[in-house]
Amino acid sequence: MVYLYLLATLLFVFGIKRLTSVKTCRQGNRLSELGMFCAVVTVVLIGTNVNWAVVVAGILVGGAAGLLIAKRTPTTQMPEMVAALNGFGGAASALVAMATLLIDDRVQQTGFALGDLGIVPAIAFPATIVVGMVTLTGSFVAYGKLSGKKLSHPLQGAQRHALHAGLGAAAIALAVWMALTGNHVMTTVAVVLLAAAAAVLGVFLVMPIGGADMPVVVSLLNSYSGVAAAFAGFVTREPLLIVTGALVGASGLILTQIMCKAMNRSLGNVLLGGMGEEAVAKDAKDYKSIKSTTPEEVAMLLDAASSVIFVPGYGLAVAQAQHVVRELADLLQKRGCNVRYAIHPVAGRMPGHMNVLLAESDVPYDQLWEMDRINADFKNTDVVIVVGANDVVNPAAREPTGPIAGMPILDVDQARTVIVIKRSLSPGYAGIKNPLFDLDNCLMVFLDAKEALEGMVKEVKELR
Ligand code: TAP
Repeated sequence: MVYLYLLATLLFVFGIKRLTSVKTCRQGNRLSELGMFCAVVTVVLIGTNVNWAVVVAGILVGGAAGLLIAKRTPTTQMPEMVAALNGFGGAASALVAMATLLIDDRVQQTGFALGDLGIVPAIAFPATIVVGMVTLTGSFVAYGKLSGKKLSHPLQGAQRHALHAGLGAAAIALAVWMALTGNHVMTTVAVVLLAAAAAVLGVFLVMPIGGADMPVVVSLLNSYSGVAAAFAGFVTREPLLIVTGALVGASGLILTQIMCKAMNRSLGNVLLGGMGEEAVAKDAKDYKSIKSTTPEEVAMLLDAASSVIFVPGYGLAVAQAQHVVRELADLLQKRGCNVRYAIHPVAGRMPGHMNVLLAESDVPYDQLWEMDRINADFKNTDVVIVVGANDVVNPAAREPTGPIAGMPILDVDQARTVIVIKRSLSPGYAGIKNPLFDLDNCLMVFLDAKEALEGMVKEVKELR
């Protein structure tokens, strides 16, 4: 059986490795699925007194619910779905710890004095409950914010920190009480209070963070769900759960770090609500020399262009314009134009958002260029078409101060002509004015991305 454990672990490790590139990520998913299947079979086979009816019912109900939710969720709501799945993961770990406490022979033999079992269970049981419950409620606050709900923290500044510190201290006190009490009823009371304190803490920790920072929070909560699972592995003495929990915990943390770096912000700044919740600067729409254009005129510019770079952003996802952008790119390529896509690491609202969208319309991988690779080429490019992106092309990031100061951006302003497709002069998520729109070489197409691109496709087809 130990070999099956090893096989499942290897499948998870190689699965994650393959997820790191667009080319191999589907294969990575398959490997991880196989690893999970292998893990479930192993755990069930080595278990004693397995209630097969419950196992099969769990697989059928859980599998069917997962399939239904995944099929019904549009790509624009993927971040919400990931948030919810993290929350369920945390809840599962917390429930496993609570249930194990009531049925585990080891615990009962000590008369519910967890401390008598040694330091590992004494820490693992309360830690699983705390991290699991924080993940559950924090994830659902993130879910609400991602779907546009305004959920603000009732307290500000020092009072807020005092409340969080108080809840944290209460959780530690309850955990110590739970480990030492040695009484069934008192242990149960401590568990319920501990779960409640952690649940409230999870809500309050995520509430002050700005809605658009939620992808960072979701990936951090993903890491927490892994940590909770790893603790649950110590609770159930299940090495595979410790391994998978640690893998999820570590990868979630690495992803969080990558996103913070791409936004040039520290994790502390994100968690303390560094960027104002949907705060729009007063001058955000105050432009002086906006030049707007039409798909027809853009087609004429494209007719003369020998190099074009598309820059997709959040608006591409909203408009579901990934297929029509590909259609336009194909048309241009057939006319002998060099076409590429420039991908900013935090374009959109979740990690890899643009890669996922463009993969959906089968854009060849070699046309997707990462920011660091393509930035030097903008100055030699005839036309850049920015599709529903805003902050990731905002030259204000080069200023020493401001909400996005220092954030690495795509240097689209250096191209000969920049076409920006967006519906209005509204700011992006950072809520600030974009000086790109005022530049001499910038032309705005004020339309929905799909409509604008469809218009360009039509016009390019009519060119000689
Ligand atoms: P944003 O700066 O948010 O700009 C998106 C633009 O799309 C908006 O200005 C909006 O303008 C336009 N838009 C919306 N719907 C549209 C439609 N149907 N058709 C055409 N345009 C439409 O997006 P971005 O440039 O992709 O930057 C992402 C931002 O999110 C960054 O600030 C980043 O730091 C932040 N963020 C991202 C992540 C990840 S992991 N991706 C994580 C945390 C934060 P109109 O309303 O005028 O159309």
